[in-house]
Amino acid sequence: MALRLDGSPFLFFITNEGNQDLLKEEMVQYFPHLTPSFSKDTFLTFKNQDKEVSPAELTKMSFVYQKFFGLNIGKTKAGEKQSALEEFKKSKFADDGYVVFDFSLTCENKKPIIDESAKWILSFIEVSAKETWVGLSPNRKTGYAGSLFLDDHLPESAPSRAYLKVLQGFEYLGYKLQAETILEAGSAPGGASRYLLDKGCHVVGIDPAEMDPTILESKNFFHLKKPIQEVESLGNKKIDWLVVDLNLPPAISIKESLRLIKPYSRKIKGCLFNIKTGDLAHVKEIEWHLKKFSEFGFKKLEAVQLPSHRREFMVIGSNL
Ligand SMILES: C[S@@+](CC[C@H](N)C(=O)[O-])C[C@H]1O[C@@H](n2cnc3c(N)ncnc32)[C@H](O)[C@@H]1O
Repeated sequence: MALRLDGSPFLFFITNEGNQDLLKEEMVQYFPHLTPSFSKDTFLTFKNQDKEVSPAELTKMSFVYQKFFGLNIGKTKAGEKQSALEEFKKSKFADDGYVVFDFSLTCENKKPIIDESAKWILSFIEVSAKETWVGLSPNRKTGYAGSLFLDDHLPESAPSRAYLKVLQGFEYLGYKLQAETILEAGSAPGGASRYLLDKGCHVVGIDPAEMDPTILESKNFFHLKKPIQEVESLGNKKIDWLVVDLNLPPAISIKESLRLIKPYSRKIKGCLFNIKTGDLAHVKEIEWHLKKFSEFGFKKLEAVQLPSHRREFMVIGSNL
């Protein structure tokens, strides 16, 4: 079989469960030249109407509502996988270093072991018993986004799944927390706080709702039990990171949180900011949201959907 190693007009994506419509809307808003082609469950392909996309061009592309994407470089029928692999091994991409990732739409998949030195991921995506699609994706430095299937489990001690969001956000950044101080807006019941406290951090949590008693037991947790709009300032507290997960319209969430950390803007290391996009209409606001963070002064910004996310994404800002 001939793999399309010079380029292909087809891009494939795997989304989080129930987020296929958000990815389609992202294409309509930001990449209108990518039109829907094939879809099955969380696997979708889009055709670039302008031209073929080369693997080098693919390394510069990023999308929010996906946990894995790449070029569709071929299809194999049952029993043809080995010959596709042999063909790939003769290519310049194999010389760059690669890992093989087997993914099935019908079976549960585990996090692939990503070798950071590998530049490419060659994937075999089993769409049905008869058909497997062959994909080529850049291996991002952290082994994250574009190469991400986590099998993280929520520990019993976590009062909510927000534990996983903050774990995966820092993992995405490749950042190891070291007893830092976190301002957490929307902290109840305390999933994210659990993770941060377990890492030895101090947490200032703003939320009018009740925190889980196990969080309140910690001497490193300080609760401001009121709506963020009523918090005038944080006094002379030192804040290293901002973590936000508020059930508020994104514009208010952003305005209020950035207002509070303004006095620390030159020292803050970064932010993990969850933004709800339950409604498709919110997708076209992503650029507007990112602009607010860039005006604030974050040096590096990315909008990513993590595996633990539902209809939401995270703005990851960093000054590191
Ligand atoms: C998704 S939950 C947060 C989960 C939390 N981060 C955790 O780790 O368990 C959203 C939170 O936003 C809080 N919230 C809603 N409006 C708020 C406001 N005006 N100020 C502060 N918190 C607010 C809610 O009380 C709720 O606890």
